[in-house]
Amino acid sequence: MIILAIETSCDDTGIAILDINDKGFSVLTNLISSQIAIHAPWGGVVPSLAKREHQKSLIPLLIQALTNSKIKSQKSKIQLKSEKLSTILARETELLPQFLKFIQKNEIPDIDAIAVTQGPGLEPALWVGVNFARALAFAWDKPLIAVSHLEGHVFASLAQKIQTQGFNLDVFPAINLLVSGGHTQLILVKNFGDYELLGETLDDAVGEAFDKVAKLLGLPYPGGPEISNLAKLGNPTAFNFPRPMLQHKNYAKPRTEPRSGSGAWDFSFSGLKTAVLYEIKKIVELTEKTRQDVSASFQASAIEVLVKKTIRASDEYNVKTIMISGGVSANEKLRCDLAEAITNELPNVEFLAPDKNLCTDNALMIALVGYSKFKNGQLADWQTLEAKANLGI
Ligand code: KG4
Ligand code: ZN
Repeated sequence: MIILAIETSCDDTGIAILDINDKGFSVLTNLISSQIAIHAPWGGVVPSLAKREHQKSLIPLLIQALTNSKIKSQKSKIQLKSEKLSTILARETELLPQFLKFIQKNEIPDIDAIAVTQGPGLEPALWVGVNFARALAFAWDKPLIAVSHLEGHVFASLAQKIQTQGFNLDVFPAINLLVSGGHTQLILVKNFGDYELLGETLDDAVGEAFDKVAKLLGLPYPGGPEISNLAKLGNPTAFNFPRPMLQHKNYAKPRTEPRSGSGAWDFSFSGLKTAVLYEIKKIVELTEKTRQDVSASFQASAIEVLVKKTIRASDEYNVKTIMISGGVSANEKLRCDLAEAITNELPNVEFLAPDKNLCTDNALMIALVGYSKFKNGQLADWQTLEAKANLGI
């Protein structure tokens, strides 16, 4: 089947079209319009600007996606239901006129379903994508599927395998370490669609900590790539930053039984960020060398905690596979250190990391979840679907 997917949970507008079945998929198109340049001067994502940019980008991206994918159309004339469409897109005032023009001009494309990120994320940004998808589903009379962005990230780490081997994979149970700007979670993946959240950050997400430390060092947003590049030239033992929650009482070996949901696998990164802040305050002048050393030492702390907890949880839950996903999973040191720890400590466990372009937000991963939910008959209703900023996996 052909699935069209839409992602607008944060500062990337994504549209992907996949030709997909149980045996695998091919990417007909996977487009991203990044808003980094718009948010960078503010040092972080500004929700109202994100909403505005998603509204501007969606129709041009959709036109590009339909052209790239060479999807045929059904040659049926659309009965323009502009009154209803105006109601659906009432809050998307910049998108509505473009949408009506597009719908009037174009025939219905031969797609089988529309998948959209329902949450979690920035509420105003999510609503743009959700209302856009609702309007398309209504105008084109197509099934609609609501997708959790977090489930999308989990699927991103399986994308390469699904592409070539299909959905009948021998990888579960698996642990997914989801590390992004908004989340730090250890997820037990029992099967597609069957998850248990083992632990998550109690305060800042690890990507957020990278971004905040970068800001303290006077580096541009987003800080993750900046810190990881500087860290390559720095000394990771120059500063002895804390390893938060590494010695968490539930972490110590031996544990009698897994206590999922008990906080055993939680993380905390705000103390580490504060420790970096105090250290920077002591430094009279921030030179290139101290920036490199602070970056390397901070990164070493954060990554050591992520790697050790992932290995412990994977050992305890006897998993076949360890996966990482989310923006921070692009970090080379995290990938290398985790791969090395798996080789040394859990040599029978397979390690899966997404392609670099699937680490950060994208619509391809939303299409994969969309297909799997479609197969299970889990459809959304365009009349009632709502964005959910706090949606879980
Ligand atoms: O998954 P993502 O694109 O958006 C969210 O859903 O949050 O993740 C973005 C986060 C940002 O905090 C960014 O600084 C971080 O991922 N990031 C990195 C790297 N590349 C992106 N953090 C550390 N090292 C990297 N190489
Ligand atoms: Zn994300």
